[in-house]
Amino acid sequence: MKKVNTVNPAHLEATLLSMMEPFFITTTNKLPFHGAGTAANNGISVSPVACAIDRPRRVLYRSVDKMMHIVANLTKEPTKNSEYLQGVHAPQPNEISIPKARVTGTLPADLVGMFVNVNPNPQYLPIGGYHMFEGDGALTSVRILGDGHATFAYTHFDTAKRQHEMELGRSNELSIMAMRGYSGLVLVLMDALKRKLEKRKYLRSTANTNIEEHGGRLYALWEGGLPYELSITSDGTSLQTQRQLVYDEYEGPFSAHPVAHPTNGNWYSVSYMLENPTCDAAIVVLDANSQFIRNVPLQLGRKPMIHDAAVTNNYVVVLDLPVLLTPEEILKPNGSLIRMHEDKPGHIGLFPVDGTSEADIIWFEVPSCAAFHTLNAHDTADGVVLHLCQFPRFNLLAMKDIGDPKLVRYELNVRTGAVDISTHELGLDDKFGHGTYVDFPFVNPGRVGRDARYGFGSVGVPSLDRKNVRNRGVCKFDLHTGEPAAGILFPGDGLGEAGFVSKKDAVSEDDGYLLQFVKCDDGNTVMNVYDAVDMCDTPIATVHAPDGFHVPSGFHSQFIDSNMLDQMYLKM
Ligand SMILES: [Fe+2]
Repeated sequence: MKKVNTVNPAHLEATLLSMMEPFFITTTNKLPFHGAGTAANNGISVSPVACAIDRPRRVLYRSVDKMMHIVANLTKEPTKNSEYLQGVHAPQPNEISIPKARVTGTLPADLVGMFVNVNPNPQYLPIGGYHMFEGDGALTSVRILGDGHATFAYTHFDTAKRQHEMELGRSNELSIMAMRGYSGLVLVLMDALKRKLEKRKYLRSTANTNIEEHGGRLYALWEGGLPYELSITSDGTSLQTQRQLVYDEYEGPFSAHPVAHPTNGNWYSVSYMLENPTCDAAIVVLDANSQFIRNVPLQLGRKPMIHDAAVTNNYVVVLDLPVLLTPEEILKPNGSLIRMHEDKPGHIGLFPVDGTSEADIIWFEVPSCAAFHTLNAHDTADGVVLHLCQFPRFNLLAMKDIGDPKLVRYELNVRTGAVDISTHELGLDDKFGHGTYVDFPFVNPGRVGRDARYGFGSVGVPSLDRKNVRNRGVCKFDLHTGEPAAGILFPGDGLGEAGFVSKKDAVSEDDGYLLQFVKCDDGNTVMNVYDAVDMCDTPIATVHAPDGFHVPSGFHSQFIDSNMLDQMYLKM
């Protein structure tokens, strides 16, 4: 332990970053983006990297790769013991496509499209551990046909990462869970050497976090890499990776949560760059057709993990919260390379949507906190109102330790620089249990970037010992009145985010359907349709997966309407 105290953190950071220098991501202000349909698309059939390098390098590469596995096996806990491989997180090695799934209740006639949830499902376990953010992307999908019938499918995305590992017969990636202690440092350095031999400049996307539609195309997103464009499968029951977007000069990464401007459709990605010594984050702007407009590098003076953003008519909301890359922690046996620093403040920035420079950002200092997701933001006469699902504590390597999360309202005044902060209490403990909180938040899609009356989200319920959290329901809260929320209790565990679809003849903002994949307490999986007005626990309709077929818990969900699906057929 004495040696730990003699390490100069700044020197160690510089050393680690210099080891990664060959892989730094180029960021300039003149970076053409080759969007969908251009010749520069890098198809997923790209040659496996190990075969694309010359023989001496390949021999060294494979030697280093084997050494990494040996070191990890000797020094790390067996990966199979990971909590992220148990229960609702257990991987599913099989794919299914059921053209006529069992339906109970009555599917509404005005609900036609496909509801999908993207989830991590590792093909091979990474080196030295496993974190749920590292699994290969897979998709649970229900196609609602409009005639009372529905399909059910589970599909593995075919990314370049997955293809490469199939060639190797094992994982090629070092788990962040292995990056602890001196053995962790050795593994990081060997991984850096391996990536140098591969001439790989950025992380390979797992495509496991989010699905977003933009410019008439669908993308699977992961914040360490570049988006995959998706196409519909030949039987129409699911989606599949088609090709990965690449830039000529800008090589990523891209955010898992790019946000569209509420009126002109521009797409804003606030991306963070842990491995780049000259740039901490970037705001990448694409037009409504996914063509590159500009990239604005940010020098934040620290390396925050930025998962989400928000966009109003006037501003892009940038979250520089103190969940930071902390290289010196790698030498601590129980350290965490990425964790919240409770002694450091947060900063929320308002970047004008037509801004071109970091100097255009108006910054507000806020108390220390961590957050994955914004609920929404909208303009006011004096600035912006932002709703944020935030945690008082966060450690990427021990994610159950999040304290008492809150939905927090920030009123940011650009004229005076003042920040007014208040908390929205859900009032759902009586129904769900003590410590209930909301995450995976969303509003009616038509209210994104505008003043929304209703917010929705998944209900997280911690166990009494706070060692586990279950997704037990979906809630609706009134952002205007602040009245206690209404909540729907699931018959089991929610598998990721819910979705909202407006009724055809909706008469109010909340007049729609809530869709949710649920792992029922009997072990079976369903997709339930609920009424978002009455918020009744009993679903309107249920689409059943085959009995006993395990569906892993996932992250974000998306409803793809029939018009979008028709467009995708036309592109086949
Ligand atoms: Fe997210």
